[in-house]
Amino acid sequence: MKYRHQYHAGNFADVHKHVCLLEVLAALARKDKGFLFVDTHAGRGAYELHPGDAAHPAEWRAGAARLVAAAPRHAALVRYREVVAAGVHGGSLRYAGSPLLAARQLRPVDRAVFFESQREEAGALRKALDGQPRIRVEAADGFAGLRALLPPPERRGLVLIDPPYEEREDFTRVHEAAADALRRFAGAVLVLWLPLKLRSDFDAWWSRLGRALERPLLASLLWTHPPDSRAALNGSVLAIVNPPYLVEEAMREWLPELRALLGGVGEAVLSANAPH
Ligand SMILES: C[S@@+](CC[C@H](N)C(=O)[O-])C[C@H]1O[C@@H](n2cnc3c(N)ncnc32)[C@H](O)[C@@H]1O
Repeated sequence: MKYRHQYHAGNFADVHKHVCLLEVLAALARKDKGFLFVDTHAGRGAYELHPGDAAHPAEWRAGAARLVAAAPRHAALVRYREVVAAGVHGGSLRYAGSPLLAARQLRPVDRAVFFESQREEAGALRKALDGQPRIRVEAADGFAGLRALLPPPERRGLVLIDPPYEEREDFTRVHEAAADALRRFAGAVLVLWLPLKLRSDFDAWWSRLGRALERPLLASLLWTHPPDSRAALNGSVLAIVNPPYLVEEAMREWLPELRALLGGVGEAVLSANAPH
């Protein structure tokens, strides 16, 4: 596998995903009962980003750095900005990926399991977590590992599925993993990231997901290029299955503000299969 998240850490898609993740984690923490958080594709956890570093395209300058320089209004964006700003040192940034962001939010009653298939990245993640109890890192395939964890004894769970999409099969693997997770544990909250390329491809993926899962769905779309441009990536999507209470209402407020801060060209909140 060639994929290294270091090249993309803190870019607009990471900002979008991490704002969303923090919001869902906060929504789950409104109830006292603990939950299990699973990150099936966790990465190395911390990314050292330096301006002018020729080895890495500076995608974060157009993403996380913009949030740090801004004064957002919505609480979801303020929360994210605070966490990211804590990693600024001089002109550089130690950017926290999804497992480290989650680890900061989890309470003593919550647990987490992080999967990362590249041994070196999994080792770096273990080191970054510094032996926190109630968190386990597995150097293994996250799609397979997830199956063994559901249903969790807590009967509350959140799963982030964020594969690199280096292989086209990842689009169908995400569908299959989501359907399998819900068969084992109907109440699971799932957060699925996917790249936004052609609008028609997304529409087909979204309607297949709706038909396959028959659960409440919410999608947050953020376009950095017009929907059918031939750029490698036109935007970012987060699809949330079984979205917790009030997450949709908050998203309708923070998403346009985030789009304006990042200089995106469009955004949309979609929902489907809402209970009647
Ligand atoms: C997009 S990055 C994850 C970023 C991370 N979730 C974040 O938001 O900070 C995808 C990661 O998945 C890892 N990976 C790829 N295939 C995997 C698999 N089948 N199981 C677990 N990890 C995998 C890659 O090595 C890479 O580090």
